[in-house]
Amino acid sequence: MSETYSLADATMKVIQDRRSIREWTEEPVSEQDLALILEAGRQAPSGENAQPWRFIIVTNVEARKKLGALAGGASGRRFTAEYVTHQMQERFKGLEDEAKKKAAFEKLTSGQVSAFSANAPLSIVVCGKKDVWDTPYDTSAAIENMLLMVTALDLGACWVIAPCFDARDEERTKALLGIPEGFKAISVISIGRPTRPHRQRPRIAINQLVFSEKWGEPYYKEQV
Ligand SMILES: Cc1cc2nc3c(=O)[nH]c(=O)nc-3n(C[C@H](O)[C@H](O)[C@H](O)COP(=O)(O)O)c2cc1C
Repeated sequence: MSETYSLADATMKVIQDRRSIREWTEEPVSEQDLALILEAGRQAPSGENAQPWRFIIVTNVEARKKLGALAGGASGRRFTAEYVTHQMQERFKGLEDEAKKKAAFEKLTSGQVSAFSANAPLSIVVCGKKDVWDTPYDTSAAIENMLLMVTALDLGACWVIAPCFDARDEERTKALLGIPEGFKAISVISIGRPTRPHRQRPRIAINQLVFSEKWGEPYYKEQV
């Protein structure tokens, strides 16, 4: 195999192996690993090369607990809103087992989903400049770069938007970490050593995603 393809294979393996990991051992993330993760973020593309990202490393147990509580409460409110507007019932309409459905609704609205950030030995809070046009896209590119480096290092991470999604929670996150005006708290990446392997979550088949020349005309006629 040519060198190009072995590099492509290695890159694809990292991309395909990435999973959202929400349970970690207590093992700290080493400085060497953290440096590689941050460098991966720093190298991301950004509109007009604005590089509007800033990163706050959180390892302090008290701050972790507060971040986890913010994330948990925020996700509970978001899913409760989904439930009362019936979006959640729509999302789960394929699930026929009523008991399982009820358990899923209860779990999602419990205020516990996303509270797991408190258990990660390290979180990177990604902040973005407000006065830059492309900040949400730029910071997302940096986050994905970091998630891939986490995977390449055999660590596991989850992208957690929960404590930044709602404006009130985002204000609380900013206050907790001293994030100044002019910056927005974008998302948290919670990182550590996974406690167990995880299966890949399903993906939409490529022939349903890609169109030829115009919308709706499948590029791939059959599943590839
Ligand atoms: C923008 C964004 C925000 C996310 N926020 C959360 C979150 O707040 N809490 C959480 O548990 N997972 C969060 N996730 C993780 C997704 O749930 C996860 O990526 C998705 O279910 C697919 O699973 P996978 O990452 O294992 O492939 C987020 C992912 C993205 C891309």
